[in-house]
Amino acid sequence: MKVLVVGSGGREHAIVWKLSQSPLIDEIICAPGNGGIASLARCFDVKATDLDGMCALAQSEKVDYVVVAPDDPLALGMVDRLSKLNIPSFGPTSSAAIIESSKVFSKNLMKKYGIPTAKYETFTDSSSAIEYIRRQGAPIVVKADGLALGKGVIVCQTVEEAQDAVHSMIDEGLFGKSGASVVIEEFMTGPEVTVLCFTDGKTISPMPSSQDHKRAFDGDDGPNTGGMGAISPVPCYTPEIAERCMNEIFIPTINAMNSEGRTFKGVIYFGLMLTPQGPKVVEYNSRFGDPECQALLIRLKSDLFEIMRATTDGTLGSLDIKWDERASCCVVMASGGYPVKYKSGHEICGIDRSTATIFHAGTRLSDGKLFTSGGRVLGVTALGNTLAEAIRNAYAGVMPISFENMYFRRDIGSKSIEEDE
Ligand code: AMP
Ligand code: GLY
Repeated sequence: MKVLVVGSGGREHAIVWKLSQSPLIDEIICAPGNGGIASLARCFDVKATDLDGMCALAQSEKVDYVVVAPDDPLALGMVDRLSKLNIPSFGPTSSAAIIESSKVFSKNLMKKYGIPTAKYETFTDSSSAIEYIRRQGAPIVVKADGLALGKGVIVCQTVEEAQDAVHSMIDEGLFGKSGASVVIEEFMTGPEVTVLCFTDGKTISPMPSSQDHKRAFDGDDGPNTGGMGAISPVPCYTPEIAERCMNEIFIPTINAMNSEGRTFKGVIYFGLMLTPQGPKVVEYNSRFGDPECQALLIRLKSDLFEIMRATTDGTLGSLDIKWDERASCCVVMASGGYPVKYKSGHEICGIDRSTATIFHAGTRLSDGKLFTSGGRVLGVTALGNTLAEAIRNAYAGVMPISFENMYFRRDIGSKSIEEDE
């Protein structure tokens, strides 16, 4: 079997790393890939959003299966395009990927099918939006409808802040078309947990719980990023809560998508908040999260390729997916200044002395040397018998690595450990 993986981040490196352990695969290629992926797969210079280019590559390389990992190509319909060429692939069609690419769609879906989420209204004109905000009061949350590189959600502490957010999205076009419709949502409180599930549209197989750290700085301070680190499992996600989520959220969501004629296949991402009233959905994604993927795949004992094929073929129910009992932690090493402004092109030293598993994100290989080439550079990932040990092992793996202006959070997972004690 020859497999093409689409994407270039730490998530895609983790996917390629795990797939490379499958005895069913002869060769993996990747587009566009990165400096770490290049050691496991031939990389091709085709952008993840270039549907024509990617389909041409899949055909000319005669691949048997394509893994579409990022959100944009899924929303654009890469899986649909490949299917027309009779090339099977991993991920939802664009009609199902809408669960991530339109917040108006996902909120309306949850309302229609009684899936617990924050109360909300949607607006396309700013004056009615502002009237609603004045009636509701703050804190309140303003969300752009479409994909906005993870920046389309503004948690507003005051009515003025919420009004500004609405103006910038609807009237000033801050996120272009993505912000022409907005969702205004009740502010929820409680710990956040991510649960990713494999699904073939019939069977739903939750992975262990995980937790991202979205803010740039220690203590959950600073701007939102793509994610600065992740842990798995999350101690506050107890078996009782997991059972509730399965019955009240996961199964109803998959059934709702079927009822809408939008059967979801691939990985569905449930961003949950464990509120005093019970677990509620904060967001859906139509793919693996990054860096949650890195923290999860290091714990996966089963063959990832077999699971992916089963989601495509509708045979997930026949698999018994096995996970490592140990905990994991992924610490993201980033370029100083990320997510706002940062410099690239610095040499990365010391990776060969690290005891951890390193998933590359923004790296580039040149003349046998590694250089930084993006905001998030490396995901340093380790297992441990306890969560505390996994965190210690990941940070021990960070120690020998250096590049100019490097930056990483020093408190990944620390809140969960405090809660655990
Ligand atoms: P999202 O991109 O939808 O995951 O939102 C980004 C972050 O904003 C989430 O991880 C939450 O921390 C926060 N957030 C989103 N919606 C709400 C809400 N209704 N109440 C409180 N915080 C929220
Ligand atoms: N880590 C959050 C995301 O991938 O959307």
